[in-house]
Amino acid sequence: MFKVEDKNFNSEKELYSYLNNMLKHLLADETDAIANLSNAASLLGLLINNINWVGFYLFKKNELVLGPFWGKPACTRIAIGEGVCGAAAKTLEIQIVEDVNKFPGHIACDSDSRSEIVLPIVVDNKLKAVLDIDSPNFARFNIEDAKELNETIKILERINWDQLI
Ligand code: SME
Repeated sequence: MFKVEDKNFNSEKELYSYLNNMLKHLLADETDAIANLSNAASLLGLLINNINWVGFYLFKKNELVLGPFWGKPACTRIAIGEGVCGAAAKTLEIQIVEDVNKFPGHIACDSDSRSEIVLPIVVDNKLKAVLDIDSPNFARFNIEDAKELNETIKILERINWDQLI
């Protein structure tokens, strides 16, 4: 059985280290991409503090399409270059948005969201998806989160992304 309810971490670093280790184990014996992304979204949603949404937008036929997530129902399609997710997909750079209301073109899927981080997932120089995390707090994410979540992305690169096209 998988248990995360009673975990207390002394630092964000410790939390991310636990999370990334757990993710490696969850992905180790499974080859199905949807199963793996679903468990990844759930794990991130349960472990990261002060967030209201986390999920994947998959790069399909030149747009982003909603994939496995944790949180309220969200917009299903995002054009490349639109919103924070589209900006990450276009630039292939991590986006950290301290106040979503100040981000031009931000797409409000959940009205609770105040800040956001989006990381592109690129395998063999090809964009596969973006990982989007929203928080109800202003400036929830910083460069340290980006660094730790980059490790999460490296683990997710092993997923069989071609199953999802
Ligand atoms: N806010 C995102 C859209 C996705 S939702 O947050 C789940 C954006 O601006 O791209």
